[in-house]
Amino acid sequence: MPVPTPQAPVGVFDSGVGGLSVLREIRARLPAETLYYVADSGHAPYGDKTPAYVQARAEHLIATLAALGCKAVVVACNTVTGLSIGHLRERFPGVPLVAIEPAVKPAAALTRSGVVGVLATRNTVQSAGLARLIAQHAHGVQVLPRACPGWVERVERGELDGTDTEAAVAEHLRPLLDAGADTLVLGCTHYPFLRATIEKVAGPGVQVLDPAAAVARELERRLAALGLLAPTGDSTPGGHERFWTSGNVANGQRVMQTLWPNTVAVAALPERPEPTGSAS
Ligand code: DGL
Repeated sequence: MPVPTPQAPVGVFDSGVGGLSVLREIRARLPAETLYYVADSGHAPYGDKTPAYVQARAEHLIATLAALGCKAVVVACNTVTGLSIGHLRERFPGVPLVAIEPAVKPAAALTRSGVVGVLATRNTVQSAGLARLIAQHAHGVQVLPRACPGWVERVERGELDGTDTEAAVAEHLRPLLDAGADTLVLGCTHYPFLRATIEKVAGPGVQVLDPAAAVARELERRLAALGLLAPTGDSTPGGHERFWTSGNVANGQRVMQTLWPNTVAVAALPERPEPTGSAS
């Protein structure tokens, strides 16, 4: 990896388009940063793959973003964090990694009913990472992890609302609400795009937590500590975004354009990118 510079981009990846919910918080907090986003939609969902498969994909994508000149990489995928973050930090000691994880700690502090629902993929629900978070932070609070199969695929298709989506959301929310949950953790980065439907089904009095803004703050803190924040000021241009997908490019273009407020140009993910240094 070339010596990183403040002008170098930040890499962000997820199994698909879900990590755009993290990217938008990073863009809002760090307008000067250039952001490279990889949607591994050709391999989504990660939630039902073997841990070894998910880990191998994460290794490949971090190596790809490092080869593209990224100064840091954001793991915008709770499934990767839950299964592999310790291994990935050891495997890439030279790449600052910032990783999302379910907001169990703030949820345990906020709940009044004492029951918290964690909406996540099957792999996250079964992961050692989530078990550790619950053991560390849920004292006296009942945490109910709930796998929501089908939600990720729905977001990948851009089906964020409507009767079918409401029914799919209600199927997994109902048992948590019936158990008394008054706080729901969005433990998968695809789910913030279903937030309006989740809130509609849950009704008033249920709070929904998304840790994406905390990830953006942590990225800012890490870059500042490393002296790698992009320069700001009137004479410096704002950052821009570049997007890649490992899936069907036309479909990625269509869906990512609906989820991102500015014009998106999605390219096919190069299998072996040429190193570009710190060029952005
Ligand atoms: N968006 C990812 C997460 O945060 C993974 C979804 C999937 O591919 O199953 O867990």
